[in-house]
Amino acid sequence: MAERLVSEPVTAVPGTHNASSMASGEPGVPMAFVWRGREYRVSRVLSSDKTLRPCRNGSGESYVDKHLHTVETESGEIMTLYRKRTGSASDSWILYTTRMTKARAPIRIAVLVSGGGSNLQALIDAAERDREAARYEIALVVADREGTGAVERAGRHGIPTALALPPAGMPRPQAREAVSNEVLRLARQADVEALVLAGFLTIFSGELIDAFSGRIVNIHPALLPKFGGKGMWGHHVHEAVLAAGESESGCTVHLVDAGCDTGPVLLQKRVPVLPGDTADSLAARVLLAEHRAIVEGVNALHDLLRAERPAD
Ligand code: GRF
Repeated sequence: MAERLVSEPVTAVPGTHNASSMASGEPGVPMAFVWRGREYRVSRVLSSDKTLRPCRNGSGESYVDKHLHTVETESGEIMTLYRKRTGSASDSWILYTTRMTKARAPIRIAVLVSGGGSNLQALIDAAERDREAARYEIALVVADREGTGAVERAGRHGIPTALALPPAGMPRPQAREAVSNEVLRLARQADVEALVLAGFLTIFSGELIDAFSGRIVNIHPALLPKFGGKGMWGHHVHEAVLAAGESESGCTVHLVDAGCDTGPVLLQKRVPVLPGDTADSLAARVLLAEHRAIVEGVNALHDLLRAERPAD
């Protein structure tokens, strides 16, 4: 992930300065510090350096301008800090740059949508709320129909969008494959690592499933394996849950395989079915749970994908 220039003060946590560098006469880098209200704990100091400046008295000598330390934090950032000399006892530390280690770098995702996009919004909001903690970045939003609220939402947040429409008049199986192939083309073009189906109604087929094997997640508005499969979408799911007299429902985030709603489950959230519930009232309760689940599910996918490659 790209390095970000910050140049902002951080507050060292008292008593945490690195003793070994202090022993050699350098200002000990704080092993814990607060930046933008969040505490970062240093797991190791990667390098220490200094920048020199020529003395102005013309003697040709130099003085140490800055002590720079590059550290790795317990939360996976690589940060460069330096001490700003103010001449007083309260010399301050500045965070110069930050980037994530490869093992923690966010996954670049495409979010696939067919409807209003409230799950997409939950992903956008979570990433905007805590940009430092987000484990994904939304590179593209793809819709399989025109005029969706989801695409409008993406546009409002400056996220690139594309359509993968079923060709007019094509029988459904071929149309699904055509949409899948277009999604594959768009995903490769945008160089995304994973696909997130957030209320996406096309069932994938063809090359895409193998090409993105283990890298596609779907959110389903029921507790799979119950109430999943063909025909189980939208209000049909909630109607079936009520007709079966279930006392609870919820949502499932799962990896997508060649079946329909059959891939390995990453996580579930449960909600009660309440007396007097209609499909609409149950759907609204489940949707709130979905908004938390989709963010946790994409973060879980990040951890799965990053665990596959060694940390740097
Ligand atoms: C959600 O209930 C999702 O689980 C289902 O479709 C709905 C999409 O809602 N597959 P939204 O478009 O994210 O608002």
